[in-house]
Amino acid sequence: MSDRSAAKPSAPNDLRAFWMPFTANRQFKKAPRMLVAAEGMHYTTSDGRKVLDGTAGLWCCNAGHCRPLITRAIQEQAAELDYAPAFQMGHPKAFELANRLIDIAPEAMEHAFFCNSGSEAVDTALKIAIAYQRAIGQGSRTRLIGRERGYHGVNFGGISVGGIVNNRKFFGTLLTGVDHLPHTHLPGRNAFAKGQPEHGAELADELERIVALHDASTVAAVIVEPVAGSTGVLIPPKGYLQRLREICTKHGILLIFDEVITGFGRTGAAFAAEKYGVVPDMITCAKGITNGVIPMGAVLTTGAIHDAFMTGPENLIELFHGYTYSGTPIAAAAGLATLDTYREEGLFERAAELAPYWSEALHSLRDCPHVIDIRNEGLIGAVELEPIAGQPTARAFQAFLDAFEKGIMIRTTGDTIAMSPPLIISKDEIDQLVGTLRDVLTRLK
Ligand SMILES: Cc1ncc(COP(=O)(O)O)c(C=O)c1O
Repeated sequence: MSDRSAAKPSAPNDLRAFWMPFTANRQFKKAPRMLVAAEGMHYTTSDGRKVLDGTAGLWCCNAGHCRPLITRAIQEQAAELDYAPAFQMGHPKAFELANRLIDIAPEAMEHAFFCNSGSEAVDTALKIAIAYQRAIGQGSRTRLIGRERGYHGVNFGGISVGGIVNNRKFFGTLLTGVDHLPHTHLPGRNAFAKGQPEHGAELADELERIVALHDASTVAAVIVEPVAGSTGVLIPPKGYLQRLREICTKHGILLIFDEVITGFGRTGAAFAAEKYGVVPDMITCAKGITNGVIPMGAVLTTGAIHDAFMTGPENLIELFHGYTYSGTPIAAAAGLATLDTYREEGLFERAAELAPYWSEALHSLRDCPHVIDIRNEGLIGAVELEPIAGQPTARAFQAFLDAFEKGIMIRTTGDTIAMSPPLIISKDEIDQLVGTLRDVLTRLK
């Protein structure tokens, strides 16, 4: 038997053991990009450079980094009540956070179910949708409708309703009984639209076709991101979400908004549902719920959905679902301090106020080489580049590397550069972000 331990890394800075998520591991480990500290709008790298955060981490640190209220709340909670069982026991802060979330969500949302991530929130919402239909005597409604180019996390439910081929094709047959709406990316008609594009509301009518194919009596729910983030920032065409709502209501189908990135001020309102004036039956959220500091997700539901489960003997569990860390004390404390920070600093309003400046700054990049589209909403921005022939994603990834070298953090999905800065960003920092990006794009091959 070979001595495998001899081959095992022992130095703390050996990079082999950690299998990194959604990362080109071998490429990364040859030239690592390490972050060692953060404060406000900036990261600090292991070589001591300050990097302006143009992405709020991964769309999650909406109040910026290492915010004192949140840090203190976590420290104090860890010392006071570190963990409480999530099943058949409670602790006050989980109830308080549920109430506070309901307060800022659209009025129809009355309950919050806690989990630990966006992926879990999505799978929770899909399960609640199917179980709800059964609870109201519509047990044949088991189908789920997602959308092409949708991203709903990486669990089996989420990748089944999601529409990103690389997230699906390696993982077998996924859930059965799933269909997809067409995506809403119409660059030929909507390129360089500011905010919501004019064209494409009629794409929602595809839901009628799908319902006609399967019959409404088999469809439980439709799930969409109000703004699709992970496939390049697709802003909903004017009237599109309204039409989806109408069709779902007409056919008794639940509408789920996946607000994992649009929640907590990103569009200039607490939730995109409010921004677009469309009320879904459930909202999934995560990320900004704790400012990205402690893993947490939640599903917000209407009273009607929740109440449909509250029948039968009171000593029986109503929903056979939950996680060891559903609403754990430290996450709940972080969530409360995060909501306090958003409110005290008026960050959702601030995002709305900054949005026109952000829009103008972004669209000033229109004349840069390779730029084929620019999209924006609230403090979300995307700059789509012409791909290098035969090498999709390579040009945008090079821009990401160059940008990091020049002191700004951006993200790329495909050949789109996506930006979602913390809502505390200043106009000067917007200028710095966009000015540096101009520099990067101008030199890009
Ligand atoms: C819309 C949407 N849903 C779900 C997720 C998954 O969240 P998580 O990575 O926390 O599981 C994401 C993550 O980016 C997302 O953007």
